[in-house]
Amino acid sequence: MADGASMWRIARDSGSLDLNSSYAYLLFCRDFSRTCRLATVDGEPAGFVLGYRRPDRPDCLFVWQVAVDANHRGAGISSRLLDDLVTSELEPPVRTVETTITDDNAASQALFAAFARRWGAELSTSTFITAEHFPDGHDGEPLYEIGPLDLGAPRAATAR
Ligand SMILES: CC(C)(COP(=O)(O)OP(=O)(O)OC[C@H]1O[C@@H](n2cnc3c(N)ncnc32)[C@H](O)[C@@H]1OP(=O)(O)O)[C@@H](O)C(=O)NCCC(=O)NCCS
Repeated sequence: MADGASMWRIARDSGSLDLNSSYAYLLFCRDFSRTCRLATVDGEPAGFVLGYRRPDRPDCLFVWQVAVDANHRGAGISSRLLDDLVTSELEPPVRTVETTITDDNAASQALFAAFARRWGAELSTSTFITAEHFPDGHDGEPLYEIGPLDLGAPRAATAR
């Protein structure tokens, strides 16, 4: 449960994520803990990823949110969190990763483009949740699909 509180704090401080209720992060950490990760640096929470397997397509991992504290960005933490998710002993193995990224989020686009390259996967984008769907003036969220992942492929180390 403590991890959920840290995730909420990191999301709040990220400057760009939609902040969900603290309750949502706590609940996610209980019910989707196998597809969520919290990164620590020197014992302090520094980043997180929240994901879930799509109920009707369990080999597809949807990454809902990923964030790293500003003072730790660019050090490969998010990349390692994503890599850890797809290399853990999940059954069935993850074949496809989905996420949505607003058009103004270059860092997130770069993160997932690099992820696709590391795993020898195609990256495609399509219209998904448009601005018109949102009731609150939210920007559209195009869908990014990455797959199929070649989990056996050699890849560059992500540790920096
Ligand atoms: C997006 C975010 C999670 C990336 O985390 P990170 O730990 O800094 O990312 P990494 O260090 O693992 O970098 C991954 C790749 O993205 C690139 N990248 C990271 N930040 C970048 C930026 N600001 N601009 C361009 N490229 C960037 C890196 O160079 C790396 O590519 P490479 O492997 O080809 O060198 C982080 O910037 C963040 O927390 N942003 C605010 C929250 C957010 O927007 N989350 C995404 C939407 S849910």
